[in-house]
Amino acid sequence: MDAQQILNKARAEGWALGAFNAGNLEILKAVVAAAQSQNSPVIAETSSGEAEYFGMKNFLTVAENFGLPVLTNFDHGPGLEECQNAIEAGYKMIHFDGSGLPYEENLKITKVLVAQAHQKGILVEGEIDRIGGESKAHEELAESLQATVNYTDPQKAADFVAQTGVDILAVFVGNLHGVYKTPKKLDLERLRMVRSLTNCPFSLHGGSTLLEADIRAAIVLGVVKINVNTELRLAFRQTLENVLRGSDEAAVYKIMPPVMAAIQKVVEEKIKLFGSSGKLL
Ligand code: G3H
Ligand code: ZN
Repeated sequence: MDAQQILNKARAEGWALGAFNAGNLEILKAVVAAAQSQNSPVIAETSSGEAEYFGMKNFLTVAENFGLPVLTNFDHGPGLEECQNAIEAGYKMIHFDGSGLPYEENLKITKVLVAQAHQKGILVEGEIDRIGGESKAHEELAESLQATVNYTDPQKAADFVAQTGVDILAVFVGNLHGVYKTPKKLDLERLRMVRSLTNCPFSLHGGSTLLEADIRAAIVLGVVKINVNTELRLAFRQTLENVLRGSDEAAVYKIMPPVMAAIQKVVEEKIKLFGSSGKLL
């Protein structure tokens, strides 16, 4: 099954695909191990910074060589050229993040990318009202940051989808990037309003530490892809610190297995929560 067929199946059956940022080999191996143990389809993705660190071709080659269908996504592509490079390199999905651009400019670039990507059977995700926060641990309350940012405008979302023909719309209804001192409560009423004006499948970024009930409700309202990064980064860092503390081990292949196991556990929990366990055909 290709990306479109898997997303269609997710939508029809009421579950979502996890999209996990894999900025190095160990995280990618952990994501794949979790997908295998859960018999789940999965998206492995890199932001442009992660792709630069890993190497686009290295990431794609490794992802494709695991022997199970790992979909690959270029996450928050910052510009036309970077997204075109990602299309050329062979990602199966592209997220162009034009949310920082004037609306007309965002429309223009997204349309160009949709035309180019669709020729190759690649799916395009678009974004309008910017998803706040960064993928890290914040010393702030979620509601403090949520109060300062604009959530997805339902009318604009419907116009954007109709004009660009994107395959997925990244909605922002409180799903900040990162982990905060308080839970990131979603504005489900806003999501319902967006859904009432467009039938486009949604992605939900900021998947770390969202409330379980919010995730389930968001899937019912048309979310088919949920992005997770910070919880993987924190599992990596915290486990590595624990492993290194009090040990003089220097062999990387002995240091890394507990780190990968911790990340795999996080990914498995997300897969179960998103309902994609056992959905790999
Ligand atoms: O694009 C990546 C995701 O939106 C990650 O969000 O760091 O809160 O898990 P997160
Ligand atoms: Zn994101």
